[in-house]
Formats: sequence, structure tokens, C-alpha cells
Amino acid sequence: MRKKHELPAVIPESVGIIMDGNGRWAKKRGLPRSLGHSKGAGVFRDTVFNCRDLGVKYLTVYAFSTENWKRSEEEIDAIVNILREYLKKAFTEFKDENISVKFIGDISPFPQDVISEIKRLEADNPANPDMHLNVALNYGGRAELVHAFKLMLADVEAGKLSAENVNEETVDNYLYTAGQPDPDVIIRPSGEQRLSNFMLWQAAYSEFWFDNVLWPDFSKKDLLRAFADYANRDRRYGGRK
Ligand code: FPP
Repeated sequence: MRKKHELPAVIPESVGIIMDGNGRWAKKRGLPRSLGHSKGAGVFRDTVFNCRDLGVKYLTVYAFSTENWKRSEEEIDAIVNILREYLKKAFTEFKDENISVKFIGDISPFPQDVISEIKRLEADNPANPDMHLNVALNYGGRAELVHAFKLMLADVEAGKLSAENVNEETVDNYLYTAGQPDPDVIIRPSGEQRLSNFMLWQAAYSEFWFDNVLWPDFSKKDLLRAFADYANRDRRYGGRK
């Protein structure tokens, strides 16, 4: 008989995932890093559907950071090629499955065909999606805040916003994730226990789930372990019980 996974008592509404460990997964097998990314991309696709099926409403994945440009040209090309392939297939599948897709970060340095495909996908999102997927590309939490402050200052200069009225909600509204709930839980596999510039503002009260599993090995079982742990957390948001 097929083993059924037990469902956690609480499913987080909003989830962030730092997809880490592709390189180490490949190295352990004597494979090129690009193969780790290919396997990781497949796991990304499965995880999107697993989150949707479990009832997650917002999922943000860290696919490429502002720091990832420091990698070799060969590795960057491999990641861009996987992205290109996924834009054509998996992302279209997501839309067909009523998942809306948004890219967060500065996509301008990517090749023109990739940018056009991203814009095409974003232009026809489902009106009432089961889940919102954010893909962080050339994203950094600090860069996101700088981008938000620039937009805000421009609105102040144009007289559309007054500095005295700026509060936390105003800042929220200028982020790439405007209008979305903050992540309830941020999942980082591969043994590293840091945020690495991911959703710095939005992570103020997020729970963290760290584990040694490498991203290409991350399965539904691991996702359920993360959610089961999350269901047992006592979230106080700085207050007392
Ligand atoms: C981190 O592992 C992973 C990345 C920098 C790239 C993630 C890319 C994908 C999963 C594929 C493309 C994404 C989409 C959305 C189609 P690492 O290389 O830092 O691993 P390491 O720490 O073991 O070296």
C-alpha cells in the first residue's frame, strides 16, 4: 500500500523557500553544477504543485540573487537556459493550473527573450488564482528596499505622498510583494542557517525551518516536515500570552 503522509494541523498561508544546495548535490556525485540546477528546477516545479495542493496561498522562491552574478559565466548561462526552458513549459503549466506568476527583482540584465517571455507570462495571470507564485530573480532584500525608497522619494517629490504620512504600511506598498502577506515560514535546506538577503523586510516575524537536505533531494515529505514543525510553533509577534 502507498504510504500516506500525515497532514499538518496548520498549513502556512505564505511560504518562502531558499532553494540551496544544488552545487553540493552535483559535486557529491561528480557531476557538473549545472546538473544540480537542472535537478533543482524539477524539484522547484514539484514543490510549486505540492504547496498549491496543500493549500498554501503565496509562495516565494529564491531562484537567483543579486550576488549570483559572481558565479562563472558557464554556470550563469546554465541557470538562464533552465529558466528559458521553464518559462516555455512549467510556467505555462502553472498558469493552466490556476497559479499566478510574478517575478520579483530587477530582471533588466537578463537576455531580451527571457524578459519578453516573463512579461508575456505576467500579462495574462488568472484573475482568481489558487496560489500566487513569486520567483525572485536578480533579487536582493536590500536592493528591494533601495528600489522601494527611490519610488517613494519620487512620489514625495511629485507631491503624491507626504513624508509625514510614511509608515510601515507605506513601505510595504512599495515593495515587490505589495499587497501580499509576509511569509509565515521561510524554508532553507542544505544546512546553511542564514537569510542571505532574502525578504529582509517581510521576514520580520517569519518562522524559520532549516534542514540539511540538499534542494535537489527536497521532497513532499520534507515539505510536510517543515509544515508540521511550523504548526507547533508559538507565534507571539513580540507580545506575551
Ligand atoms: C542554490 O544552490 C541555487 C541557485 C543559485 C540557483 C537556483 C536555480 C534553480 C533551482 C533552477 C532555475 C530556477 C527556476 C525558477 C526555473 P547553490 O548553487 O548555491 O548550491 P551550493 O550552495 O551547494 O553551491
